[in-house]
Amino acid sequence: MMQLSCCFFLFTLSLLSIIISETKAARELRFLTCPNNTVTYTLNSTYAANLKAVLASLSSNATDPAGFHNSTAGRETPDTAYGLFLCRGDLSPADCLDCVTFASTEVVEQCPSSKLATIWYDDCMLRYSNQSIFAVPELTGGAFLWNIQNVTDVSRFEDVLGELLRDVVNRAPIGDLGKKFATGEANFSSLQSIYALAQCTPDITTPECNNCLVQANSNFPTCCAGKRGGRILFPSCNVRYETYPFYNVTAFAAPPPPVVPPPPPPPPTSTGLYLRTVETGDSPRKY
Ligand SMILES: *[C@@H]1O[C@H](CO)[C@@H](O)[C@H](O)[C@H]1NC(C)=O
Ligand SMILES: *[C@@H]1O[C@H](CO)[C@@H](O)[C@H](O)[C@H]1NC(C)=O
Ligand SMILES: *[C@@H]1O[C@H](CO)[C@@H](O)[C@H](O)[C@H]1NC(C)=O
Ligand SMILES: *[C@@H]1O[C@H](CO)[C@@H](O)[C@H](O)[C@H]1NC(C)=O
Ligand SMILES: *[C@@H]1O[C@H](CO)[C@@H](O)[C@H](O)[C@H]1NC(C)=O
Ligand SMILES: *[C@@H]1O[C@H](CO)[C@@H](O)[C@H](O)[C@H]1NC(C)=O
Ligand SMILES: *[C@@H]1O[C@H](CO)[C@@H](O)[C@H](O)[C@H]1NC(C)=O
Ligand SMILES: *[C@@H]1O[C@H](CO)[C@@H](O)[C@H](O)[C@H]1NC(C)=O
Repeated sequence: MMQLSCCFFLFTLSLLSIIISETKAARELRFLTCPNNTVTYTLNSTYAANLKAVLASLSSNATDPAGFHNSTAGRETPDTAYGLFLCRGDLSPADCLDCVTFASTEVVEQCPSSKLATIWYDDCMLRYSNQSIFAVPELTGGAFLWNIQNVTDVSRFEDVLGELLRDVVNRAPIGDLGKKFATGEANFSSLQSIYALAQCTPDITTPECNNCLVQANSNFPTCCAGKRGGRILFPSCNVRYETYPFYNVTAFAAPPPPVVPPPPPPPPTSTGLYLRTVETGDSPRKY
């Protein structure tokens, strides 16, 4: 009897932990930078209060249609806090809100005393600092991530991928709807496509965005040659590709709408989107 209830308890516990780990996996931290030990604040400082206000303002503005917002608290230096977030361009305002709310909580847990931090997820990025970070391109302090799976026909893959990446990098800086964002898709075999995305924070100019993305793009041969997926994460821009649709292809895939409305598109298939079947390993630099 004792034995049974003990095992049932264990069984329930393990079920619970599976559920918890699956829920947590739904928003995996992809990369985090915070110099915990150098530029620091204390819990009861004015900076702490300003940072709290900034994060609250970002969360409450997370349904901004641009998928971006910046916020400042405490105009009197040296305690001013500056913050911003960027949601992936295809995200709905509700999904953006979810991500930004999550990020603003997790970033202070993970960086409890740092005056500056940047945190990346699949869906959004959030940044804060005690220096103004608005309209200033930042290309350092990011990360390269790659899918651990290899492609088979490397040279054909790299040809198709190179062209696709150049295309999204060219289009993102002139994106509309207040977003500097572009996605694209190309076939590398009759069965498989490559999906790519490029995005800048919309506070930097079109030439700055273009430069950021070109620099980001130039890192793919180093990090990700022959890999089925890769990402370059810079604070001001990011580029990503995969062999599966990792963004909502029905939300933002279409180029500018034609004058004559096309026939209605097929109903969006929600199954398969965001399935993260290829992501394994816990190291922050591989996935
Ligand atoms: C923070 O708390 C410490 C100890 O409780 C206190 O000495 C200090 O004056 C406080 N600082 C501020 C800015 O309130
Ligand atoms: C949204 O952002 C604006 C400007 O940054 C700020 O004034 C406002 O307080 C924020 N909204 C809320 C509800 O905090
Ligand atoms: C947001 O950033 C712009 C510069 O891009 C700046 O002029 C503005 O004051 C900032 N807004 C807030 C609320 O910090
Ligand atoms: C940011 O904080 C650091 C450490 O407290 C300080 O040295 C630096 O001057 C601050 N920067 C600004 C712009 O206030
Ligand atoms: C910062 O400090 C916290 C608490 O000590 C720790 O959990 C976190 O991993 C640190 N972050 C970095 C990036 O070192
Ligand atoms: C991918 O290729 C690299 C280099 O050839 C090899 O070390 C690695 O084990 C391969 N990874 C997989 C998942 O097959
Ligand atoms: C990819 O291939 C399919 C079937 O071969 C074709 O219908 C589609 O238009 C191609 N897509 C692109 C972007 O070339
Ligand atoms: C994708 O975008 C379309 C159009 O905005 C929307 O109707 C659909 O719900 C989105 N799908 C997902 C999975 O978010």
